Amino acid sequence: MTILMWLLWAMPLAAQTGTPASPETGKALFIGKVRFANGGPACASCHNAAGIGFPGGGSMGPNLTGVYAKFGPDGLNSSLETLYFPAMTPIYTYRPLTQDERRNLFAFFQSLSRKREESSTPAVIGLSLAGLAILLAATAVAGRHRLKPVRRRLVERARLEAGRRA
Ligand code: HEC
Repeated sequence: MTILMWLLWAMPLAAQTGTPASPETGKALFIGKVRFANGGPACASCHNAAGIGFPGGGSMGPNLTGVYAKFGPDGLNSSLETLYFPAMTPIYTYRPLTQDERRNLFAFFQSLSRKREESSTPAVIGLSLAGLAILLAATAVAGRHRLKPVRRRLVERARLEAGRRA
């Protein structure tokens, strides 16, 4: 009897903790490598996200790379639970995500937001600015002599015209 009661108490707890959420599994679900248990379509059929590789996701829905930052942990949790977005409700209402699928997708989105923070964007911007500066300098150096004859001719013509008028 006590064992039975303990089991009843422990089972939901075990279901809640379960296996640790995995960003890799979340990504596999997102791109459709692993199917959703209830038959919902892969998110990537309508959404793109950073790091899912070629050929990327669909463009019908917004890019979900920054969705963790946008909704925050609680918001993202409940949006994954309800998927309450007009284009998605007709599809997912009868094909809800399981708790594990939600947790794995959550971990995937969370890992994307971390990646973005560590990303090399500032370095890339810095490099392209440096490249631009070098190009501008090179053009200025190369163009220095090219402009002179033109300018000289313009000045001469202006002088001539001024002289004629005088
Ligand atoms: C049939 C296409 C389709 C599929 C499949 C789909 N979505 Fe969407 N989703 C959309 C569209 C379109 C929107 C924009 C809001 C709207 O019109 O419903 C959206 C919006 C969202 C948003 C809100 C984004 C924001 O920035 O406001 C989230 C989060 C989201 N989807 C998550 C998912 C996840 C997770 C899956 C996979 C389980 C998924 N979607 C599958 C079409 C889809």
